Amino acid sequence: MNSLVKDAQKAAERVGLVSDKIVINGGKPLRGRIELRGAKNLATKAMVAALLAETPSTLRDVPDISDVGVVTGMLEAYGVSVTHGAESGELVLDPSNVLKAHFAKIDALAGSSRIPILFCGPLLHRLGEALIPDLGGCRIGDRPIDFHLDALRAFGAVVDKSYEGIRLTAPNGLTGANIELPYPSVGATEQVLLTAVRAQGVTELKNAAIEPEIMDLIAILQKMGAIITVEPNRVIFIEGVDKLNGYDHRALFDRNEAASWASAALATEGDIFVGGAKQQELMTFLNIFRKVGGAFDIHEDGIRFYHPGGPLKPVVVETDVHPGFMTDWQQPLIVALTKAVGRSVVHETVYENRFGFTDALIEMGANIVVHKEGIESVTRRVPRRPLEQAAVIIGPTPLHGADIEIPDLRGGFSHLIAALTAEGQSTVSNIGIISRGYEHFIDKLDQLGADFVYEG
Ligand code: EPU
Repeated sequence: MNSLVKDAQKAAERVGLVSDKIVINGGKPLRGRIELRGAKNLATKAMVAALLAETPSTLRDVPDISDVGVVTGMLEAYGVSVTHGAESGELVLDPSNVLKAHFAKIDALAGSSRIPILFCGPLLHRLGEALIPDLGGCRIGDRPIDFHLDALRAFGAVVDKSYEGIRLTAPNGLTGANIELPYPSVGATEQVLLTAVRAQGVTELKNAAIEPEIMDLIAILQKMGAIITVEPNRVIFIEGVDKLNGYDHRALFDRNEAASWASAALATEGDIFVGGAKQQELMTFLNIFRKVGGAFDIHEDGIRFYHPGGPLKPVVVETDVHPGFMTDWQQPLIVALTKAVGRSVVHETVYENRFGFTDALIEMGANIVVHKEGIESVTRRVPRRPLEQAAVIIGPTPLHGADIEIPDLRGGFSHLIAALTAEGQSTVSNIGIISRGYEHFIDKLDQLGADFVYEG
């Protein structure tokens, strides 16, 4: 097994180990340069897409994170050979010997990720059936899969729920369908794309998600031989083809990681050059970053994010689907907002339970009140969703060190930042979760001059 895959699997094993902890002495600005790799939320899906082809695919800039380890394990369980290519972060995925997997094998892996649901379409095409165990991923709300299953049924799949999970078959094959998503779900859009490309006939998808990671997945599928047209107003047409070939692709950079380090620079009054970050996919984030009082310089090879001095300003921000402000950006930003002078409001409109991480910030001295049903009186850009929540952050409040246990990926990263800005010492445990989505974050903290001891 190659070292990237081995490392990723090692990291996967770490997820959930509460003994993994880091002791941080806060108050030191983060300064220096770090490099991004491909986006977690693209690379993992691109790996699944390789299953649709008859020939091998090469994916570059694959991050060494545990979610990649989970998908690698799943692919290997189905007979796909996953090996390390010539350059660092390059994976070669060979699907020429796809076979049925042992349930125990995929069950053990699926428990820590949401990606396995995306195996449905490719497995139905390759094997005529798919068995999806109970899904993992971050505990940030109900995270149902009804849109996925409804879409698969529209293609002709038969869905049976059993004690093991969900069994899908396609007795008459899969045929193109007219699908309108109730919400522009990222995962459900990917499900439709990965299923429609080899279904018979044309699929029309309305109310699709159009995140940059989805556009990159479409680019990969086009390289493979798919015919996909993206129309205005979130409409996508997919003309099914009989056969797809492998691709050669460099994954889009991880804009969630870029935004996380940007907020870390702001909150710690530091200066971080994020190599590989690009302006285009971060425009909405950059606007808010500037409004709060952060500064950035765009370079060809990355973006420098820094605190230019002076007080930070409060903002009102709503998370939304692309091109809105991503739900994955709010958690690290909220740490910076505890330093802003005045009242900030963050509306979470995508998930119903994504402010749990603020409990630890409050314990550390932040003044944050979470309104479980949102705040109607605040002027909004996005229409209210029934699951909406709002966090009101009043600053500036200095944070002090505390013992914190990380609840989920993005909330966990915000805890790290909070500990880095806090006065005194913090012990942050369960940090294995962060390796689900942040490549080598311990090394990066070291590179940026953080004062910490890692007790892995
Ligand atoms: N939803 C349903 N039914 C479904 C699917 C989704 O009700 O069948 C709801 C969800 O409960 C949620 C909303 O639709 O309220 C949006 O969910 P979406 O399907 O868009 O999210 P996802 O595909 O499960 C991906 C990312 C998330 C990211 C969201 C939004 C991956 C593996 N995950 O999740 O990333 O927050 O899109 O952009 O791509 C993360 O990286 O930390 C993370 C959670």
